[in-house]
Amino acid sequence: MVRQYTREEVTGWIPESTREFSNETGFREITDWEHLNVDRASLAYFNTYAQKNFSGPLAHGMGTEQILAALDRWGGGGEWLDLGAGTSTLFWCCALEEVASITVVDASVEALVVLDRIVRSSRVPRCYRDALAMYGRDERHLARFRDAGWRYLVFDFSQTWPDAVPRSTYDLVTAFGCFGLADGPDHFHRSINETATRVAPGGTVIGANWLRTPDAIAEKGYDTTFLSTDFVADALETRGLEACEVTVVPIQGEEWYEAVVVWAGRRAV
Ligand SMILES: C[S@@+](CC[C@H](N)C(=O)[O-])C[C@H]1O[C@@H](n2cnc3c(N)ncnc32)[C@H](O)[C@@H]1O
Repeated sequence: MVRQYTREEVTGWIPESTREFSNETGFREITDWEHLNVDRASLAYFNTYAQKNFSGPLAHGMGTEQILAALDRWGGGGEWLDLGAGTSTLFWCCALEEVASITVVDASVEALVVLDRIVRSSRVPRCYRDALAMYGRDERHLARFRDAGWRYLVFDFSQTWPDAVPRSTYDLVTAFGCFGLADGPDHFHRSINETATRVAPGGTVIGANWLRTPDAIAEKGYDTTFLSTDFVADALETRGLEACEVTVVPIQGEEWYEAVVVWAGRRAV
């Protein structure tokens, strides 16, 4: 039976996808898209996520502009690793000048199936057009990114990473809406720990975390109050990443979220 998710639930993360996951046995690189076993409910969920959050006009006052600005400011070219990519990697390309390759990681195969369809289609949803226009670009910019070398990896970034993701390699690592899920600070620490070892000298990590309202925490759990600017800056600096930016952006008009913390860290050359 296909589970019906409520609107509030389609935040882009299915806790079951990581609860039982082991990188030792579950890691895979998707190359054969024809013969994938996909869970229909999870596929429907991620289609809904893309549809709900990344198809209409760009919603202002939700932190998206600040994430795009951080990519524009700190995101150089080169090898790009997008963690917890979900269905959105192509959208974030709107603010990047160019990259050499794109490696996307998610614990959910189905999220990557939806992403791959978006990448291979020629459709340009309205919010993509809006974001491109903010940077004086048009869909030819996206076409270049669609043609970049894409790798699709399935693993849990909060566990020890597979050897398929080499150390000191990535000029840009992004993690939007995914560190700190589940086990709070420990999850964040484990995730940034592994991430930092994969950043190339001079490379950058850019992330964003949504902060839940007190009502959402009381009602649904997942306490984000640990995500202060000091916590994030300290987590970066402890792993040898200079905290270039840690900004809390208040969000308007969202029932479950009250702010997003946007951060960037750079590894010394
Ligand atoms: C809130 S969505 C964000 C998606 C995307 N980054 C965006 O900007 O829209 C979180 C994504 O991270 C993935 N995810 C959550 N925890 C993960 C983990 N420990 N390892 C790998 N992927 C994870 C989920 O499957 C989901 O696709």
